[in-house]
Amino acid sequence: MAESCQLLVHNAAAIVDWSADNQTYTALAAKDGKVVALGDSREILANWKPKQTMDAHGGLVVPGLIDAHTHPVFVVGRAEEFDWRAQGVDYLEIAQRGGGILSSVRHVRAASAEELLFHVRRHFQGMRQHGTTALEAKSGYGLSVESELASLKAIQAAADEEGMQVSATFLGGHMIPQEYREQPEDYVDLLCKEMLPAVVEQGIAQAADVFIEEGAFSLVQARRFATCALEHGLQLRIHADQFHELGGVQMAVELGAQSVDHLEALSDSGLEALALSGQTFAGLLPTVPHFLRQKQDAPARKLLQAGVPYFVATDFNPGSSYTPSLPEAAHFARIRLNLTAEEALWGMTEGAAKSLGWSQKGHLRPGADADLLILDLPDLFHFGYAFGENPVRAMVIGGEPLACSS
Ligand code: NIG
Ligand code: FE
Repeated sequence: MAESCQLLVHNAAAIVDWSADNQTYTALAAKDGKVVALGDSREILANWKPKQTMDAHGGLVVPGLIDAHTHPVFVVGRAEEFDWRAQGVDYLEIAQRGGGILSSVRHVRAASAEELLFHVRRHFQGMRQHGTTALEAKSGYGLSVESELASLKAIQAAADEEGMQVSATFLGGHMIPQEYREQPEDYVDLLCKEMLPAVVEQGIAQAADVFIEEGAFSLVQARRFATCALEHGLQLRIHADQFHELGGVQMAVELGAQSVDHLEALSDSGLEALALSGQTFAGLLPTVPHFLRQKQDAPARKLLQAGVPYFVATDFNPGSSYTPSLPEAAHFARIRLNLTAEEALWGMTEGAAKSLGWSQKGHLRPGADADLLILDLPDLFHFGYAFGENPVRAMVIGGEPLACSS
């Protein structure tokens, strides 16, 4: 007798479940929000009696995409910087002119709680339209006690209202704010003595992040902040080796960070440290060098060859990667990082989930959360092949189909 279940998806070209058994399944059953069975369509239709059925019409079924590095708490874009860059001004010079991150900070500080919530929700909706079902979201455009707390609260409220699973990261170490430009050590004091305790007391972040770069935080300052964050029980996710190698990768590995992201300037010794660790994920952000007209990409092939765990993310933000689309990031991962379609998709599903400690997300093996996409693609080779196209035809979160606008 057929067993009842919540949802049955059938008639897929294939289901990418990331199990090691090399079987091609075309149907799946979900119950109580979890995947309970995979098989061929005839077998699953015979064995399960669902409340709802979805016909994949020969599309590819994949785990819901997970964006493990985003900056969604900003109010307006910074499109004028695009023209400055066309005139030859680079990202670090823009920051020195008071543009860049600090210009986003001025807008976020001036926004009300309602405005922040409105914009974060809008950004989450954009991501979801492109297949993101869960994500990591950073603050980092507040850089004061009040404004960082407001940013993290906006992330939490938007996650609740949009029904998105979100892991929030306190990026108080994004940049030294203008008022501390002459006394950066005082800002590190503020981070450690006031901001971290307040964030932890309110329970609104799972991790802390710092941007280690010339013009942002030195290695010494970053280490102080990261050590305080660990003492407060937060995980670490670190921005390092984007333009200059300052030792941030080695520090991240030494402190047991969940991830160290960017890595365009990664040296062989940094790569060795990551390979030896086997724990700290390499966060690959392939749209960023494109957006910044940067020649150098992260040495992704070397990282994968060395067995370094990795994820692929959008780095969605107004200054260095203004796209909410992981399928678009997959295209850049294939073109610029020389990843295969399978490697790119793994990095934005299972790899991303593992880096965030989510063992039931990012795959579709029995027991996984039933978060999945039906893509308008005939096979996995087509994932990240086109660009400027949204392949998401339907989305399911926790076994419940969501309306898709694309
Ligand atoms: O990951 N590199 C530092 N932070 C962001 C950019 C933020 C911005 O420019 O607004 C990044 O690229
Ligand atoms: Fe970033």
